[in-house]
Amino acid sequence: MTSRFHQRVVLVIGAGSGIGRATALAFAREGATVVAAGRDKDRLAGTVEQIRLVGGTADHFVTDLTREEQVEELVANVVRRHGALHVAHNNAGTFGPAAPVADMDPDEWRRTLETNLTGTFLALKYEVSHMREHGGGAIVNTSSNIGAHLRLPHLAAYAASKAGLSTLTRVAARDHIADGVRINAVSPGPVDAPMSRQPGESDEERTARLGPSIPLGRIAFLNEVVSAVLWLASDDAGFTVGSDLVIDGGASA
Ligand SMILES: NC(=O)c1ccc[n+]([C@@H]2O[C@H](COP(=O)([O-])OP(=O)(O)OC[C@H]3O[C@@H](n4cnc5c(N)ncnc54)[C@H](OP(=O)(O)O)[C@@H]3O)[C@@H](O)[C@H]2O)c1
Repeated sequence: MTSRFHQRVVLVIGAGSGIGRATALAFAREGATVVAAGRDKDRLAGTVEQIRLVGGTADHFVTDLTREEQVEELVANVVRRHGALHVAHNNAGTFGPAAPVADMDPDEWRRTLETNLTGTFLALKYEVSHMREHGGGAIVNTSSNIGAHLRLPHLAAYAASKAGLSTLTRVAARDHIADGVRINAVSPGPVDAPMSRQPGESDEERTARLGPSIPLGRIAFLNEVVSAVLWLASDDAGFTVGSDLVIDGGASA
């Protein structure tokens, strides 16, 4: 194991699957004590199990990001159990059904904004509140190339939520860099993770559907996003503040 995160406590929200599970594992491999959060207890337990199998240290807290009292309690619990919170990866998100604006269900709109934008705002609020009183920290949000960087039809709720998150990241970074808290985002295009797959779709079908719109001709490997998240969260990125790193094979270039 390398040790960029040795003696660091890292919270990953949305850690039960996909990108979040992969970053949780990678942080642990680099020496962090990892706290995995999300709504599904069994999936979180699976992430913790995988981390322990590679000799890492982790536990989990079931948390719904849309419930303010649960987010506040999550940060308090991390600190109570591990004595600190140094790094957070706010990765939870939802995609929702695609539809043109006129046909969009307002409840789906609200659910998407509530999770991707308001939920991440709540996470930032309580993470930063702790970090600024305890020597600072680093936070990475998972946004998307859809939103601030690329507009696609039928995805208004997701695009608006992620455009908001990309902007929230930049403003929060300026608000809190003087407090010693470095805030950045990654904005991936389609990744080999659950959100890019339609129900029942094979890997080949997914590449055939998405590949042509990406200059590189393929979707991202998980590690191509994970390595960026860990770099932004590490001291190697000490001068990187309020960036929104697009990782999309050139789709929005
Ligand atoms: N895969 C892609 O192609 C892609 C591309 C660009 C951006 N992204 C972004 O990357 C992030 C991860 O996506 P993924 O592909 O890895 O999909 P995923 O496996 O579905 O990950 C989403 C995670 O968010 C958690 N989550 C959703 N709502 C939550 C809530 N209210 N409270 C707490 N946790 C919640 C889910 O866990 P529970 O259901 O257990 O709560 C799940 O672990 C998302 O923010 C997504 O928008 C993905």
